[in-house]
Amino acid sequence: MVRGISFFGLGYVGLTTATCLASRGFKVICYDVDEAKVDAVNSGRAPFFEPKLDELLRRAVEEGYLKAVKDPKTAVLNSEVTFITVGTPSRDDGSIDLTYVESASRMIGEALRLKSGWHLIVVKSTVLPTTTENVVGRIIEETSGRRCGEGFGLCVNPEFLREGNAVEDTFKPDRIIIGEVDKRSGDFLEEIYREFYGDDLPPIIRTTPVNAELIKYANNSFLAMKVSFINMIANICQKIPGADVEVIARGIGLDKRIGPLFLKAGAGWGGSCFRKDLEALLDFAIKNGVELPLVEATLKVNRGQPYRVVELAGELIGGFHGRRVSVLGLAFKPGTDDMRDAVSIRIVRRLVEEGAKVVVYDPKAMDNAKKIFGGDVEYAGSVEECLKNSECAIIVTEWDEFRKLKPEDFIRLMRNPAVVDGRRMYEPEVYSRMLKFKAIGLNYL
Ligand SMILES: NC(=O)c1ccc[n+]([C@@H]2O[C@H](COP(=O)([O-])OP(=O)(O)OC[C@H]3O[C@@H](n4cnc5c(N)ncnc54)[C@H](O)[C@@H]3O)[C@@H](O)[C@H]2O)c1
Repeated sequence: MVRGISFFGLGYVGLTTATCLASRGFKVICYDVDEAKVDAVNSGRAPFFEPKLDELLRRAVEEGYLKAVKDPKTAVLNSEVTFITVGTPSRDDGSIDLTYVESASRMIGEALRLKSGWHLIVVKSTVLPTTTENVVGRIIEETSGRRCGEGFGLCVNPEFLREGNAVEDTFKPDRIIIGEVDKRSGDFLEEIYREFYGDDLPPIIRTTPVNAELIKYANNSFLAMKVSFINMIANICQKIPGADVEVIARGIGLDKRIGPLFLKAGAGWGGSCFRKDLEALLDFAIKNGVELPLVEATLKVNRGQPYRVVELAGELIGGFHGRRVSVLGLAFKPGTDDMRDAVSIRIVRRLVEEGAKVVVYDPKAMDNAKKIFGGDVEYAGSVEECLKNSECAIIVTEWDEFRKLKPEDFIRLMRNPAVVDGRRMYEPEVYSRMLKFKAIGLNYL
């Protein structure tokens, strides 16, 4: 078994991957520039909410398979392979910001100066084609004084996990992509995955670094495009009496060439990855003289989608000024506390601009919400408190807690029950009969 795996970056990807490896007996040593995260991890607590992670992490720390350190050199010197799992956010112009990847590469290279023997570096962060070799490889060569492919190995191994499902996705990925600078690097990484997965080894694609890098961007662009596509169809459904996007999605999803997943119409997609990855790919394409009209359209549809939900609310209650409006769900999806690029942000801000008294509730994301909305909204401690005396409720994130609500609950709690189902959680026949109701992609007769 490999003697030690280190991680640079303890976010959703780094900490989940590190913890899963440790849970199967790998010795893992983690480094993050954020010392509070290092302390949290060493006390067996994840610094963010992710189902099943805390329990696995606590055990891995207690049993001594995982620890976090505040010194990058200690991490590298006590491992044979280092995964880079730092963030790759976008700059204001949409281009990719490689600051963290560059700083992690420098730290790893400097540590390698002190180490004898070959070491593998694996880029798991999402990076544009050529970055692994031209940025990470070069920086490590300069700082370590070694040659890439000789003194150290280099792979890019994009990650596809979904927040809210990260642990399960890590144990059961659809496939593993390995972009390798040389065969030894690819063999070494494949061996780690063979040991980790045993008889459940997923398909492995070994290829060039640029192919691996582009697979990740093509993957995210396609998924985002599928959702934007069905949202576009939802918007046309809205104009046709009797039309319902859910039925359309079922009808086309049964076509094997299309498939049913990622065809759920709603208030738009959010999260830390789709927008920044699509914008980074667009920027990269423009710099290479290529147009990507499908990616542009995917982003355009999504920019407008949260406002469709606000429009539906406006149609239901006829204006927001001074009206109490409840927003149920703030996280970008259920199962996480992550609000990065959540559509709730645009919905809440528009409602506030239009003069609504907005009250918000989310089962997990309230702390993050307070950092974003400050004193602009009222924060409720429960669904009931959020709905109390409200004139309109907008469902933004499809938490199970909201799925359990009945029309009677809205009627009992609200001053003037009107519900906008931005995630298609409720039976329109039942709701439309009992209260003022609109749902995305539905023009109910
Ligand atoms: N979050 C997801 O669902 C997801 C899924 C697939 C791929 N990705 C990609 O994985 C990468 C990481 O995403 P994330 O959501 O886990 O990020 P994150 O923002 O949650 O965490 C990144 C961590 O890196 C740390 N960091 C920054 N510079 C560092 C350095 N020099 N050394 C050590 N640590 C450093 C930060 O303090 C932070 O804790 C990104 O490229 C992202 O696009 C994310």
